[in-house]
Amino acid sequence: MASSKVVIVGTGMVGMSYAYSMINQGTAEEIVLIDINKERALGEAMDLNHGLSYAPRKMKIYAGEYSDCKDADIVVITAGVSQKDGETRLDLLNRNAKIIKSVVTEIMKSGFNGIILVASNPVDILTYVAWKSSGLPTSKVFGSGTALDTARLRYEIADKINISVKNIHAYIMGEHGDSEFVCWSNAYVGAKPIVDVIESMEQITFNDLDKIYNNVKNAAYEIIKRKNATYYGIGMTLVSITNAILSNENRIIPISAYNGGAYNIPSDLYIGLPAVLNRDGVHHVVNLKLSIHEQQQLVKSATTLKELLDKMEF
Ligand code: 2OP
Repeated sequence: MASSKVVIVGTGMVGMSYAYSMINQGTAEEIVLIDINKERALGEAMDLNHGLSYAPRKMKIYAGEYSDCKDADIVVITAGVSQKDGETRLDLLNRNAKIIKSVVTEIMKSGFNGIILVASNPVDILTYVAWKSSGLPTSKVFGSGTALDTARLRYEIADKINISVKNIHAYIMGEHGDSEFVCWSNAYVGAKPIVDVIESMEQITFNDLDKIYNNVKNAAYEIIKRKNATYYGIGMTLVSITNAILSNENRIIPISAYNGGAYNIPSDLYIGLPAVLNRDGVHHVVNLKLSIHEQQQLVKSATTLKELLDKMEF
C-alpha cells in the first residue's frame, strides 16, 4: 500500500469510532486528530497510541493542527453538533454549515490537495458547503451519504433471510434522512433479484419490505432514543470508504455525490447515489435503471435538498 495519511476533524464519538476502527484494521500509516478542544484530541491520541502494541501494523497517531492537512490523502470531517432526541438531521443545518465552512477554510489554507470526506449532518447539504468552500473538484469532495443506511438495509435483509450480509446487494439512495428510499428494483441476494427471493423463500414476504425500509429509515432515531448518539455504524462505514480510496479499490458505495445532471433530478446538489471510489475519489456515479416510483422518490428527495440549499446562506 502507498503511504497513507488521514486527518480527522472532530474527536467526538463519530470521529473516534472511525479512528478506533481504522487502527484495528491498519487502514492508514498516519492518523492525525484535530479538535477545537485540543486537550481532548491529545488525550484521545494518547489512549489510541497505548493500543499500538496490539495493532496489525505500525502507525503514527497524534493530535495535530490544520497545517498537518497539507500532505494528507483524506481529511474526514465529523465536527459539528449532532442530533438530539426528537431532532431531525435537517434541524442541525444552520449551526453546522458555519462550522463546516470555517473548518474547510482552515484545511485549504494548509495547501491541502487530497480528498475531503464529510460525515457531519445533514451530510448532503454540508458536503455541498464543504465543496463550495474548498474550491476542489467534485470528485474530491463527497459525503458518507447513504452508505450507512445501505449497511443497515443489508443487515436487515440478511437477518431476515439468514444469508450472509456480504451477499446482499441493495442500495438506499437519496437524502441521508427522512426522504431516503430503497432501490428495490436493483436489489439482489447473490445474483438473485429480491422479487425471486421472496417467491422462493418462506422467511420473507412483500410486506416485510416496507418493515425493512422503516427500520432502516428510523434506525438513527431508535438508537438516539436509547443511547443519545450513533457512532459505531458510521465509524465502520467511514473506514470502508477510506479503504476504497487508499487501496484504489474501484468499489461501489452509495455516498453523497455531486449530481451534475445524472438521474434526471435537480442538478448542482449532493445526494446519496452509488459511486465508484478509488484513489482519485469519485471516479463516476453509477447510473441505475430505476422504477417509475423510485425515480419519483429520488426527485422528491433531491427537491427537498435543493430547496434547502437555495434558502441557505453560508
Ligand atoms: C445516523 O444515521 C445520525 O446520521 C446518523 O446514524
